Amino acid sequence: MQRVLSGIQPSGSQHVGHLVGALENYVKLQEGHDAFYMVADWHALTSKYEQVAEIWPSTLELTATFLAVGLDPGRATLFSQSLVKEHAELHLLFSMVTPLSWLERVPTYKEKLQNSSADLGSYGFLGYPLLQAADILIYKAHKVPVGEDQLFHLELTREVARRFHFLFQAEVFPEPDAVLTKFPKVPGLDGRKMSKTYGNAIHLRDTPDEITHKCTRQMASDTNRIRKSDPGNPDICPVFEFHKLFSPPETVRMVDTECRRAGIGCFDCKKKVADALIGRIEPLRQKIEAHLARPDDLEQVLRDGSARARGVASRTMEDVRAAMKLPRP
Ligand code: TRP
Ligand code: SF4
Repeated sequence: MQRVLSGIQPSGSQHVGHLVGALENYVKLQEGHDAFYMVADWHALTSKYEQVAEIWPSTLELTATFLAVGLDPGRATLFSQSLVKEHAELHLLFSMVTPLSWLERVPTYKEKLQNSSADLGSYGFLGYPLLQAADILIYKAHKVPVGEDQLFHLELTREVARRFHFLFQAEVFPEPDAVLTKFPKVPGLDGRKMSKTYGNAIHLRDTPDEITHKCTRQMASDTNRIRKSDPGNPDICPVFEFHKLFSPPETVRMVDTECRRAGIGCFDCKKKVADALIGRIEPLRQKIEAHLARPDDLEQVLRDGSARARGVASRTMEDVRAAMKLPRP
């Protein structure tokens, strides 16, 4: 059976971008694959080292979200990165053989370094994608369901695997492939990519009122359409993107034609998007809240999964140490 691995940082609530860009693939891939899904709490520390108190509550929230979207701990291994210390050992060994220039040219690195309010001039932040490579390769994963922004990290992961094989003349790791969803890009309320940092996200824990407010009052639409009698262009309107993602096909067709001939107003159009989103998110929100009311159970799910993950990770480390002529601990 092919192995799947992916991870999400526990940094506050998950949003619709995570749902459509990654989580829905996680659920699909837990069938017919040996799937590992991780809470990447060390990755969260690379930028949130001043807010350590938030990481464990966010870890539980992400675990609740995993369960709410339909991940089954009997089928997929749900675990915490920091509870599998072998990731740190592999990261360290990879750091010996990875040229600095490979890390410095990662686009997400440069971008976040410039845009973040925290000081990210740290060693750990530069190593972020290398830790990710260790996360993936330590499970010998074949497939990695991720959003489009992670493709470069996957490419780096493959390069690190190839370099390891070349240097130590041992084929330890399969070269993993990214798995993208049908809609890998979800726009935010302002039309830019949905992201917590941009403050343009619809969160899975937003109540119906919050969703309606965000859609009708904050969502950007075709800016050339000033009056209701002006025809609009759905092709450049973020609201239409949301319809394609969440509304039934007949609504998508209706908006597509009516918008162009000014047959529907933007407010009504946004209200329809809100209702479609609520239909999708409200059941999830209720499940997330129910799981969060039982934090001990969530912790147990994570501890059981981490013990299982550790078994796999420690076997890979035996291969790695043998390849690198290190003594057995
Ligand atoms: N960097 C990923 C993100 O921000 C999270 C992540 C950490 C990850 N380790 C991973 C994703 C391993 C896939 C595989 O979305
Ligand atoms: Fe966008 Fe809908 Fe307004 Fe058309 S009617 S511009 S799709 S919000």
